[in-house]
Amino acid sequence: MNPEGDFKSYTTAQQKRINAALRGYLPRASCRPRTLHESMRYSVFAGGKRLRPILCLAAAEACGASDTLAMPAACAVEFVHTYSLIHDDLPCMDDDDLRRGNPTNHKVYGEAVAVLTGDALLSLAFEIMGLSQPAGKHSPGDMIHELAVTSGSKHLVGGQVMDIEGEGAALSGQELRYIHESKTAALLTCSLRLGAMAAGATPRKLASLSEFGQATGLAFQVIDDILDITQSSDKLGKSAGKDLAADKTTYPALHGLEKSRREAARLTANAIAALKPLGNKASRLHEIASYLLERDY
Ligand code: IPE
Ligand code: IPE
Ligand code: MG
Ligand code: MG
Ligand code: MG
Repeated sequence: MNPEGDFKSYTTAQQKRINAALRGYLPRASCRPRTLHESMRYSVFAGGKRLRPILCLAAAEACGASDTLAMPAACAVEFVHTYSLIHDDLPCMDDDDLRRGNPTNHKVYGEAVAVLTGDALLSLAFEIMGLSQPAGKHSPGDMIHELAVTSGSKHLVGGQVMDIEGEGAALSGQELRYIHESKTAALLTCSLRLGAMAAGATPRKLASLSEFGQATGLAFQVIDDILDITQSSDKLGKSAGKDLAADKTTYPALHGLEKSRREAARLTANAIAALKPLGNKASRLHEIASYLLERDY
């Protein structure tokens, strides 16, 4: 493990580097059409923990490379994530007013620009991936394919459809798990895999990171469901209590708070165990998984 107490300064430093890189990839706000470019910057810089890019960079480090190699992929996954949040908040989806401590994109720019801002961020993610120069045997094409499959109908978008269709329905534990794996765990796993691919990882390391990502990713959405019930909107920077109001099936709704907490802890322990083949180089990933289990926003 890394020295006690330096985890916070590590994440703060990574967030700073990531924010600078994101800023560099986004068109200037003054670029035509101005509203669209302002809106893209508004949502990307509204806050956000930058968890997916942090995981992407930490995966490259765990594979023994300089994490700078993974910065384009790290920015790409944050753009996909931010697009998914803008669309997730739309009135036709979760109908949310607050995101990352600020009014949601459609509240500021209107629904049409919000939809198009999401479209533009998704396209920008692929533009950047096309420029990446992975080490070793993985090609930029492999990385683009990975991100496209994750963002598409069988994973992120498919999960969002099942989430919306599941409102008011009595879903089984298995169905709920599938939704969470698709809408959330897939992009977390992809973030790790892209970082590893940029670093020229072996198939064995990629497999370990996939296992880590699937378990941490599912735990992440279970915790998100718990926080929706137990925390305030102020603390979360997004409106609390929305899942119950929208009659969503969530982990706590289905299994209760205590059992959901235990499940998140069990998944996190499995995730950490999956890091074993990576040895000491994966100590940051270990710390990130523990932090995610304990987080309160
Ligand atoms: C929120 O993700 C959406 C989910 C998949 C649960 P985050 O909690 O990572 O949101 P930001 O990026 O910090 O705003
Ligand atoms: C969203 O899940 C997952 C996405 C793909 C955006 P939620 O709907 O639970 O996310 P929050 O709680 O609004 O951030
Ligand atoms: Mg949602
Ligand atoms: Mg939502
Ligand atoms: Mg939620």
